[in-house]
Amino acid sequence: MTAAIIDGKAIAKDIRAELKEEIEELKAAGTTPGLAVVIVGEDPASHTYVNSKEKSSKEIGIHSEVYRFPADLTEEALLQKVEELNNDKNIHGILVQLPLPKHISEDKVIDAISPEKDVDGFHPVNVGKLVIGKDTFYSCTPYGIMKMLEKENISLEGRHVVVIGRSNIVGKPAALLSLMNNATVTICHSRTKNLKEVTRQADVVIAAVGIPNYVTADHLKPGAIVIDVGINRNEDGKLCGDVDFNSAKETAGAITPVPGGVGPMTITMLLYNTVKSARAFAAK
Ligand code: GUN
Repeated sequence: MTAAIIDGKAIAKDIRAELKEEIEELKAAGTTPGLAVVIVGEDPASHTYVNSKEKSSKEIGIHSEVYRFPADLTEEALLQKVEELNNDKNIHGILVQLPLPKHISEDKVIDAISPEKDVDGFHPVNVGKLVIGKDTFYSCTPYGIMKMLEKENISLEGRHVVVIGRSNIVGKPAALLSLMNNATVTICHSRTKNLKEVTRQADVVIAAVGIPNYVTADHLKPGAIVIDVGINRNEDGKLCGDVDFNSAKETAGAITPVPGGVGPMTITMLLYNTVKSARAFAAK
């Protein structure tokens, strides 16, 4: 069997086109969705992500503000910036790029963002709402996975989803969103014994381990749907996922490639959450 390829790039493009239309309607009614991104320090990968968020926002008509601060910015000054953005009527979404320099508490900063503008879905209030199955802002990468499956007409109802990885940003919310979609869910992680025995029972595997080419055909039940969240570099410096694509595609029923799978969905859902927030503020 050779798996069907789930084209995240094409799905992301469709959603962004839908969002663009929605933004035009919102603008006509007097609201321009606004997203503020704050970055502290010089990490090149983080700057690349932030530039991409800025460009993608502008492309669909979102008002974008980016605040780039040096690594020695104080925690107090960052908290003050967040408070200013909380009170800014033109801003509906606030994202503080992580990681932050060591002298700044990420928890304190996330807690300071108004839950109503927390388009990352990282604030404990929004995480709590996810846990109890309420509509809120969901973390963009796992939410993107859910949208992708929905667009591919892949239902999770009654199916066994095995998530590999338990991070707060991907693994845990991916498991909770799968549960909200009526899946039977197992979370595996670095201490899981006999991983292959568990993943071989999965109808859907969501791989978010951060180890290049970790998941192979051996981990999969024939026909399984494989979602690869990894963005790694192999020994040759080439981009690769957590899934050994060439091996897995012979056993899987459908698979996301890296690049061009989950990746393009993450920023798309950030834009989606920003528009959702603007709509909520406009309705107040
Ligand atoms: N750093 C890497 N990914 C993310 C993300 O999704 N949101 C934020 N705020 N920082 C990140």
